Amino acid sequence: MIPPHEMLPSFSPGATARLHLRPLVMNEARELLAVVSASREELARFMSWPREFHEVAQAREFVRAGREGWIQSRTVRLGIFERDTGALVGSAELDGIDARRRQAELGYWIRTDRCRKGYAAEASRAMLHFAFEALRLHKVRADVAVGNFASARVLEKLGFAREGTLREDRAVGGVFVDHWRFGLLEREFLPAPVAR
Ligand SMILES: CC(C)(COP(=O)(O)OP(=O)(O)OC[C@H]1O[C@@H](n2cnc3c(N)ncnc32)[C@H](O)[C@@H]1OP(=O)(O)O)[C@@H](O)C(=O)NCCC(=O)NCCS
Repeated sequence: MIPPHEMLPSFSPGATARLHLRPLVMNEARELLAVVSASREELARFMSWPREFHEVAQAREFVRAGREGWIQSRTVRLGIFERDTGALVGSAELDGIDARRRQAELGYWIRTDRCRKGYAAEASRAMLHFAFEALRLHKVRADVAVGNFASARVLEKLGFAREGTLREDRAVGGVFVDHWRFGLLEREFLPAPVAR
């Protein structure tokens, strides 16, 4: 596998019909903090980190860690920007990229005032296109807290199958909760046209 950061100039998740996906830069840390703060209640229902995310230094660390993961070929973490307004509307990532197993984990969040517009599915489809076409992965998995029906629906729209339930697998707000494991194989992925 070619390391993701060496691929960036030639192949990136890039643009979809309504969105731009690209790594966040340091001077966007304040905007990131504002977006997470405004969406904290919804984000924190099913993810732990937004609860603790209050300082611009933490937003900078989010950006730095994303870039570091990229350089180490471990993570592709991209900000999701609305093409019409340029606004940051969320982020998506492929984490735990394992070249030997040819597998990674998909994650995403969308700011609350932009939810239910199909943005999570649209951004994730671009991430999957990158995962299967550029990184040549065989499988992408996603773990969703039991009861997170919006996220489960996003994955279903993308063709993921629910493979089982992981018992008390991750803590959300300090409590270990069951998670549904979803998986999508390369041959099952149906890429929609990607705008360039
Ligand atoms: C989950 C999340 C990313 C969805 O983002 P989004 O941009 O609204 O997603 P989409 O619009 O692409 O699709 C959402 C789908 O879920 C449906 N949905 C939304 N809330 C729902 C609910 N409470 N129950 C059932 N379905 C729901 C929507 O109707 C839509 O399906 P449709 O297109 O068939 O109508 C967003 O709500 C979010 O960031 N939540 C908090 C963080 C999170 O849970 N991240 C995922 C961790 S695994």
